[in-house]
Amino acid sequence: MQVIRSIAELRAWRRSAGPVAFVPTMGNLHEGHLALVAEARRQATSVVVSIFVNRLQFGQGEDFDAYPRTFDSDCAKLEAAGVDVLFFPDERELYPRVRQDFNVEPPHIQDELCGAFRPGHFRGVATVVTKLFNIVQPDVACFGKKDYQQLHVIRAMVDDLNMPVTIVPVDTGRAEDGLALSSRNGYLSPAERSEASRLYRVLSGIRTALLAGDSDYASLEKAASRELEQHGWRVDYVEVRQADTLEVAHAGEPRLVVLAAARLGRTRLIDNIEVYR
Ligand code: PAJ
Repeated sequence: MQVIRSIAELRAWRRSAGPVAFVPTMGNLHEGHLALVAEARRQATSVVVSIFVNRLQFGQGEDFDAYPRTFDSDCAKLEAAGVDVLFFPDERELYPRVRQDFNVEPPHIQDELCGAFRPGHFRGVATVVTKLFNIVQPDVACFGKKDYQQLHVIRAMVDDLNMPVTIVPVDTGRAEDGLALSSRNGYLSPAERSEASRLYRVLSGIRTALLAGDSDYASLEKAASRELEQHGWRVDYVEVRQADTLEVAHAGEPRLVVLAAARLGRTRLIDNIEVYR
């Protein structure tokens, strides 16, 4: 595996590479990320993974400084997974002027769900992913369903701006108790970690009700929030949405996704489940 830190060198490598599948990450890699890498290997002859903790998508008071940076163990995992190139730019390489003057502005969905609690987050994601796409010029890029709203924003961006890349979604990797794998799980205390799987159980409960024909989304959302709050969570949202558009779902909608974000102590966790009925 080649580790490339400069844009110029990456571009030089790209000129002689064939079809490329790309997995953008912020590092601290776990099995969820590695499932994206495995899918990328099925999609193209060369696989590029990037590791870059993108300041633009972190708000004031969020965990940019504390975000785990584990380059050596990440490298070993990517090497073992058969990755061809690890693109590992530093901040000056990607943001040489410190300020990013041009940005990619997502539509109103950036202010809903997670966006309502993380102003500017999806703008920061859309902007850095556009930069990375322009640098790596992949044929295919893999994104996890774990970050369902992010996947939606990236697909809509690629579609609206005619970016020549195919977005491949990958199912959420979970621990045995159902907790979605996440770099932020490392912030949880042992007690919080054992409580954390409730988020998935609560979403699964809504899924069961929806599959049984319940279409009273508001009551399901409220009951789920209440259960989480009774166990010490602070709930940002639990919402049933239309799966393809992320618009508010009407009763009887056959393709749904249940999304949630909630905090345990200082750790904010997100999860979601698709429900097709
Ligand atoms: P990061 O949180 O490192 O995630 C990188 C990719 O891995 C994303 O596509 C994310 O959805 C996926 N992923 C994370 N946990 C997963 C899990 N448990 N199962 C399946 N996929 C999972 O998402 C980002 O970084 C950044 O916003 C980024 C796109 C790199 C832009 O900075």
